Parts: sequence; structure tokens; C-alpha cells
Amino acid sequence: MNYNVLELLSKQNGYISGEEIGEKLGISRAAVWKNITKLKSMGYSIESVSNRGYRLAPFSDVLNEYEIKYDNLIYKDETDSTNEECKRQAAAGCESGLLAVCSRQTAGKGRLGRSWQAEKNAGVYMSLLSRPDIVPFEAPRLTLTAGIAVRRILSEMTGLDFYIKWPNDIVINGKKAVGILTEMNAEMQKVNYIVTGIGINVNNTDFPEDISLKATSLYMETGRRFKRSDIINKIVPELIDCFDDFEKNGFTGFVDEYNKYCANNGREVKTVGGKTEIKGVARGVNERGELIISSEDGETAVLSGEVSVRLCDDRYI
Ligand code: BTN
Repeated sequence: MNYNVLELLSKQNGYISGEEIGEKLGISRAAVWKNITKLKSMGYSIESVSNRGYRLAPFSDVLNEYEIKYDNLIYKDETDSTNEECKRQAAAGCESGLLAVCSRQTAGKGRLGRSWQAEKNAGVYMSLLSRPDIVPFEAPRLTLTAGIAVRRILSEMTGLDFYIKWPNDIVINGKKAVGILTEMNAEMQKVNYIVTGIGINVNNTDFPEDISLKATSLYMETGRRFKRSDIINKIVPELIDCFDDFEKNGFTGFVDEYNKYCANNGREVKTVGGKTEIKGVARGVNERGELIISSEDGETAVLSGEVSVRLCDDRYI
């Protein structure tokens, strides 16, 4: 697909005639019309008025290689899972920095073997492949770092305070807006690659009954619709910067920020999924990224897994 006509329309204030587009791009009016028809079928809202020409409506939430400003990109309208896409590329020797994005996942994966519901065109589904020079036990800290990067950008874009539910769910008003799934391929002392998969509920208007009490979207929190490409174009550089910082300086510099926005802090939590359940009050993360839970038995540092936070109505989320 050639995006020259789109580029021209997006730089234009007001209408531009098919003739002028054709002249500027050195193509026929028929070719302009064909290209515009294709763009409309892709979801762009383009008005055409006789004697005036074409105008791109200011808000078109379409994802493709043109909208995502990133060189090392694989974009697919549909794939099984962007994490799987990255893992296939990594196995084929692909270098650090590959970004996989899609508009719909047919087998989106969540943490702890769960699935991730990925409604077509409503959310951001993306995964970044990295090959950091770290040892495997440091990897969970990289996961927390990803949460920091995503939280920063979503708070900036919406003007709302998002929080991080340890290890890296992004939550607001007791509901989850973002899930992050990190997968690692490693040997005993060496990480081969890490895939950081991020799912963001963006323009969802509702959720299936089984998750409706626990899930929210940027639209549901703000009443505004967002361009998924704007979110990707802001999060990816932030994520890469944070990962670079982590690789050079470790997690220490992120601890205060993490604890400032850690939704668990001071709240009653319980671990889930582990062999023994630990129940207590969360006291923030330490420099190793472990969550400190204080209980009658003293303080326990939990390295990975899952915790539920107790709400005022006694529900755990
Ligand atoms: C969770 O909260 O359980 C993690 C959800 C992670 C979902 C994202 S969507 C993009 C990437 N591809 C996947 O299959 N999963 C992650």
C-alpha cells in the first residue's frame, strides 16, 4: 500500500482536489480516486465534496505501517498473538528492537496461562523484542520497568492518575486498563531474549460480563476516544528509554516512582497461585523489585507471581 495520498491529505488544511493531488504526486485522477477508495475501506474517514475535493477528518483511528512511526515494525491486521509473533522472529535470529503490532489477536495470551480478550480495533496489542545484557533473575525487574513506562504515558495522555498493581497491571479506580505479559528465553546465566507484550484497553465501550467488574478502558475512564497509533508512538520510545536506563543502571532509580504509584501499598493483599498463601499488608517494592508483604509472621519479599488487593467491599481484585 502506498500512503502518499494519505500523507498529502493529512498535511492539508481543508479540502484538496483530486486534480491537485494527482499533479503533486504525478499520478492520474483515477489513481487518486482508487487510492482514496482504498483508504476509506481501511477505516479512514475522508469527506469528498464536489468542486472542492477531499478532506481527511481529524480523527481516524486506523492502525497500519504508516500510522506507527517505528522502523523495525511488523504490523498485521490479525495474528494469533503479538508475543508469539515476536518469539517466532526471535527464533529466526531477529535482533533486539523488533515491535509487533496487530489490530486483532485470535489467541491473545495473559499471565499465568490465562487468555487476553482482544476485541478488534478497540485496543492496543503490541510486543517488543529485546535482548538485554542481564541475567535471568533480573528479568522480573524489567517487567516492572515496563509498567512504569506505560503508566507514565497513559497518565500524561489522559491527565488521570493511573496506578500499577504489582507486578505490572495498570489500574485505575480499582479496574484494570492494561495487562503486560513478559516472556523470556534464557540459559542459566544468560538471557537470549525477552518479549514484552502489552495489551491496552483503549476505545472499548464495555466488557464481557465475566470481566466487566474488573476491566476498564481509556474511553470508559475519560469519555474520550484515542488514536491507538498515538498511544503506540508515545509508549514505545518511553519503553525503550526505560529499558536502556534499566540495563545501564538497574532498577534502583525506578523504585521511588514505582512505590509512589503502586496500587497495592498499604492495602491488604494476598498472594495467589503459589504453594502457600501469604496474607498481609503490602509495603512497596524493594530494589530487587520484590513486593514486601508484612503479616503476623514478619515481612516476606515476594519475587514473582500474583497478588490480589482487597477492596473496601471485601472483594479481592
Ligand atoms: C495479563 O494481564 O494477564 C497480561 C496480558 C497481556 C496481553 C498482551 S496483548 C499483546 C501481547 N500479546 C499477547 O498474546 N499478550 C500480550
